Amino acid sequence: MKKLAILGGEPLFKNGLPDEVKEMNKWPIITKEDEDAALEVIRNNWFSFTKITEQFEKEFAEWIGVKHAVAYGNGTMSLAAAMFGIGLSKGDEIICTTKTYWASATPATLFGASVVFCDIDENLSIDPDKLEACISPKTKAIMAVHYVGYPCDMDRIMEIARKHNLYVIEDVSHAQGGLYKGKRLGTIGDVAAMSLMSTKSFAAGELGIVITNNTKIYERALAYGHYDRNNANYIKESEDLKPYYHMALGSVKGRANQLCSAIARVQLKYYDERCKEIRKAMNCFWDCLEGLPGIKAVRVDESTGSNMAGFYCAQGIYYPEQLHGLSLNTFIKAVIAELGNNDLWLSTGANFPLHTHNYFKTFDFNGSGTPSRIANADRDVRELDKNLAVSETIQCFGVPWLKKYDKEWIEKIAGCFRTVIENHEQLLELEDEKKKKGGRWHGFVDQED
Ligand SMILES: Cc1ncc(COP(=O)(O)O)c(C=O)c1O
Repeated sequence: MKKLAILGGEPLFKNGLPDEVKEMNKWPIITKEDEDAALEVIRNNWFSFTKITEQFEKEFAEWIGVKHAVAYGNGTMSLAAAMFGIGLSKGDEIICTTKTYWASATPATLFGASVVFCDIDENLSIDPDKLEACISPKTKAIMAVHYVGYPCDMDRIMEIARKHNLYVIEDVSHAQGGLYKGKRLGTIGDVAAMSLMSTKSFAAGELGIVITNNTKIYERALAYGHYDRNNANYIKESEDLKPYYHMALGSVKGRANQLCSAIARVQLKYYDERCKEIRKAMNCFWDCLEGLPGIKAVRVDESTGSNMAGFYCAQGIYYPEQLHGLSLNTFIKAVIAELGNNDLWLSTGANFPLHTHNYFKTFDFNGSGTPSRIANADRDVRELDKNLAVSETIQCFGVPWLKKYDKEWIEKIAGCFRTVIENHEQLLELEDEKKKKGGRWHGFVDQED
């Protein structure tokens, strides 16, 4: 029996992370090619305008396999543009998961629509079995978030959407380039939007992009954020937009900073190859822990033709009852102690459930006198928040996000989790009365709210 490091035993990294492990942890990978591309923009003062951005959009569309791509200053704006693209408007409802980053849902309030939250399954994905109960005559769309890289069950979602005549928007911010049964994520629904900001697996600074095969949706999305492309050269099918050429519809100036577009072009060239390496590393990490009690990987079986893209913010699910009730907080603290530091960014929890925030209870965005979430609704959609038991109780934790395959180090790092699990009974006495469940994104250990 090993004496756990939290109780005075030896940790793995006694003097900080070794260089090889630092390399495995480093992201994004920036080479001279990225630097040269960025310098070219700086030296020529090309931050504004869209030439480089349009090159990137074309390359991105070809890579992912869609007709249209349009970039924005960030992912949040791209999600708003996708919602505008499908015509989300006053009184409509959109279904989204609650355990996601706020931008998957909040733009709906800009358009006077209501958000109905749907519960998740044990992979942190929208639960198709709970979807139909969320639908009303006012439902216009389903937001399918491929959360932490796990592909949503798109066959079921599309089947339900088609049956009820709903749009499907994919939020691919955590899963750029990932596959669902051989198809690229983002190409299955009617439209997709995603963040390409600097911590994402596709990391290009501050950037977002909308992709779609639907020309009408594309043209509306373009007119929403791109006043300088809201004209006859770009908008060819949407007669209804003609009277509004040359204006920013919705008062949004959303074009990308070309510094980011230039970096994105370089990142795209190497992206698939780098994600493949990440998947090899992360699958190796989880293979080392397969079958242990208390934890389960959030990962997909690649033999189905699906994959986890770049394993963004890789997560595990925690089952305290399998470890004599040991709290997640103590478990993670013990693993960090076993590693010797938290330079690999272990955490308790992912995004907190959005419906628990006052924004979705009482916030009145445009002073209508009614909370924005229900201002134009036929029903008080907040009442459906009582059906979110899994979202409220599931316990998840962030594991090291390993970008390079180095079997020996991966086995040692995973070994720290294994050691804690196999010796967890040593920790039971350590538990204090306030057993925390975790919950905040990067819920750093011991964080209260
Ligand atoms: C799931 C999800 N959707 C949307 C966004 C918003 O993207 P951005 O931060 O680029 O605005 C993020 C996070 O950054 C996210 O995690």
